Amino acid sequence: IMDGNGRWATQRNKPRTAGHKAGVSALRTTIEACATYGVDVLTVFAFSSENWRRPDQEVSMLMELFLLTLKNQAKRLHKNNIRLKIIGEKTKFSESLQSKMQEVEQLTSDNTGLLLIIAANYGGQWDIEQACLQMMSYASKENVSLSDLKVDDFLSTAGIPEPDLFIRTGGEHRISNFLLWQLAYSELYFTDTLWPDFDKDALDLAMTHYSSRQRRFGQTGEQL
Ligand code: FPP
Repeated sequence: IMDGNGRWATQRNKPRTAGHKAGVSALRTTIEACATYGVDVLTVFAFSSENWRRPDQEVSMLMELFLLTLKNQAKRLHKNNIRLKIIGEKTKFSESLQSKMQEVEQLTSDNTGLLLIIAANYGGQWDIEQACLQMMSYASKENVSLSDLKVDDFLSTAGIPEPDLFIRTGGEHRISNFLLWQLAYSELYFTDTLWPDFDKDALDLAMTHYSSRQRRFGQTGEQL
């Protein structure tokens, strides 16, 4: 969760939008580092279902920034063998943004390196709800029993492994309706670093923390 863009800007007497621009640059650094480290999947929360409540001017700036960034970075993503997937209720976005999203997803669909998932107009509760609805309609259409189906297979992350490590910048200790179902066994890491200041060293620190954790998935330490 890339939190703290607004505060980063305010600390510098800049408009909040300057924080989001700096946030894009921090995101590029993190994507590059993850690709170099051989991380399989990186999921970032770019815009939550609740972010529409922000001032109109900030929302429209964020939309412009998404579009511009997708336009500017598509080739670079593709050249670096990165596959892009967008999760969330995309129909709320403008036609031009939706078609750009689809275009870049299509362009990079056969890439085999890092899978970059951008959660946009995403909410964890929405994801679980839409999965249940899809599951019910699938069950009745295919005439199979609901109990033979798995929620995981209908989430927007179907087929993608659950996150090992969750990182939230900006000092808040909350999940904020991010990947609720998928984070069940993830290691949670919170840092006060504001997102625009999050760099390779900050990522290394989070990974060092992760590597010191013992993941038991319900078993005892002795069993492992
Ligand atoms: C949270 O900081 C950040 C956001 C709501 C937007 C995140 C978006 C980016 C980093 C740009 C990503 C771009 C692409 C193309 C995916 P905040 O505004 O809540 O900060 P605050 O808590 O300090 O106010």
